[in-house]
Amino acid sequence: MKNLLVTGGAGFIGANFIHYLLEETDFEGRVINVDKLTYAGVPESLADIEKAFPERYVFIKADIGDKDTLAHAFDKYEIDSICHFAAESHVDRSIVSPDEFIKTNIIGTYNLLELSRQIGGRMRLFHHVSTDEVFGSLGDDGYFTEETPYKPNSPYSASKASSDHLVRAYHKTYDLPVTVSNCSNNYGPFQFPEKLIPLMVLNAIEDKTLPVYGDGLNVRDWLYVGDHCSAIWTIMKKGRIGETYNIGGRNEMENIKVVEMICDYLDVIVGKRSNREPRRSLMTFVTDRPGHDRRYAIDSKKITDQLGWMPAESFETGLLKTIKWYLSNESWVNNVRSGEYLNWIKEHYG
Ligand code: NAD
Ligand code: DAU
Repeated sequence: MKNLLVTGGAGFIGANFIHYLLEETDFEGRVINVDKLTYAGVPESLADIEKAFPERYVFIKADIGDKDTLAHAFDKYEIDSICHFAAESHVDRSIVSPDEFIKTNIIGTYNLLELSRQIGGRMRLFHHVSTDEVFGSLGDDGYFTEETPYKPNSPYSASKASSDHLVRAYHKTYDLPVTVSNCSNNYGPFQFPEKLIPLMVLNAIEDKTLPVYGDGLNVRDWLYVGDHCSAIWTIMKKGRIGETYNIGGRNEMENIKVVEMICDYLDVIVGKRSNREPRRSLMTFVTDRPGHDRRYAIDSKKITDQLGWMPAESFETGLLKTIKWYLSNESWVNNVRSGEYLNWIKEHYG
């Protein structure tokens, strides 16, 4: 892998992955980051990478729906491998407005597959980053394995399921060298504060309401983003072509517990609220998300047994790191919360 195309590299996991790849692994090639810079793409997350790796990092503002621009990038940078993150990723947005989810997650993935097929033998690996939400919802027991049938419940998860099927079909039909990963909920630095953990951290710091959907007893299986990055790189280096790997941290937790932990940590780190009340009192139960999946939990035995991957962070250590990151990266937080970064994108890219 000499010229690795990373799609969606200005987003949460993509930015963490590029940092990880260039700063912490033995990867010696070049990263070409193609990102449309939607509301979720924050160029500031990679400002230090642009400076530190001028020869090994290229940024292209482009829509994966735009096949001609992609084809030009494939040729110009002699792309030989892909790690595909770009997607519309927020379930609530997909419920209100599914259009972009269909375009980016399905058609965008199709464009990348088609161009990869067309360059033939030069394409060494197409790694597709997917989600555990394709499997639907679990009851009180059991785990998602690689054999669990797909049963997506939201427009977001249906669009991701569709892209997974296309990736599989391109392997089976055209022999495209692919690997797929289905991961549980990530948290950590650079996550857009529409997602549960950064939203609650920032609202709790600012004494704002903490909106918990429904009864707050929905369960998610939390994985620190750095562990997701190391899992993806392990698959890209050691995974078997055509295989799918589940990634999770065995960190199942009810939403309400997650929010309580955030409140308790902040009470200790920054002190109680000005009225001396604990931050838990900011929690408010609000109308549930339509079609809200009850429980996700990943069985990651395959990647552990076959590729030797293990998460390094527990939920406690990962959550503390994350809270401290949001507290000490005020400029990134203010930029994102005020929408200032969108003005910067307009100025630079029109
Ligand atoms: P994100 O929303 O933070 O980032 C998505 C990035 O993709 C942004 O930079 C955005 O600008 C870019 N993008 C969107 N549409 C594009 C288009 N048409 N062309 C080019 N770029 C486009 O998402 P994330 O949380 O970093 O998720 C990354 C991937 O990982 C997604 O495929 C998602 O389904 C998957 N995933 C996420 C999680 C999670 O917990 N966040 C868990 C499992 C899998
Ligand atoms: O499981 C992997 C998926 O995790 C990824 O594929 C998605 O891209 C990612 O967004 C995430 O999806 P969720 O819907 O699980 O994440 P979210 O942070 O939106 O919500 C987590 C849980 O918290 C969910 O049960 C809904 C609940 N929630 C969320 C928000 C934003 C609340 O109770 N209140 C909130 O304000």
